[in-house]
Amino acid sequence: MTHPKATHTLGVGVLVSGTGSNLQALIDAEITVVAVASNVAGVPALERALAAGIPTGVFPLEDYAGRNERDAAMAEWLSSLGVGLVVCAGYMHLLRPVFLTRFPGRVVNVHPALLPAFPGAAAVEDALAAGVTETGATVHLVDEGIDTGAVLRQEAVPVLPGDTAETLHARIRVVEHRLVSEVVRELIAR
Ligand code: GRF
Repeated sequence: MTHPKATHTLGVGVLVSGTGSNLQALIDAEITVVAVASNVAGVPALERALAAGIPTGVFPLEDYAGRNERDAAMAEWLSSLGVGLVVCAGYMHLLRPVFLTRFPGRVVNVHPALLPAFPGAAAVEDALAAGVTETGATVHLVDEGIDTGAVLRQEAVPVLPGDTAETLHARIRVVEHRLVSEVVRELIAR
């Protein structure tokens, strides 16, 4: 007697803090996002989730005793909705071990530079200030450090004469949207 091959798909949860164009890219790529959590209320990313009919949760730090308590509550909420893979898409806080241990090896981040070059919150501005001729986009595993986890995928983006942080970031975002969709698709198919 043959048994059908077991299929198991990880539920995708997305963490956001702002614009949410990477979240939109996942939605547009028809990746089933089961939950969107933000540390900031009222951001455009939450509107995108609502428009797509995705459950949203807001977890402002000031509502909790501290980061551990906030991150534990956020992990619990994501788990309760079936999340097995977490995508940080413009999420601007570090995640505490209490969160990361709930999703071991299953938290990824999108970063607008070719890590390990230019980690941190001002990666695009830092690349411009350094005068490099190319920077890029990286999707990497999240650990406790600032953009220090293992790189899963990266692609270079040229810095063009006359670029501002806005024009360069816009060009990087196009690459981010493609890379994050590809990586998430691969991770959930495993
Ligand atoms: C992206 O460039 C991402 O790499 C960085 O923050 C930006 C978020 O953009 N971490 P969005 O909110 O997905 O539009």
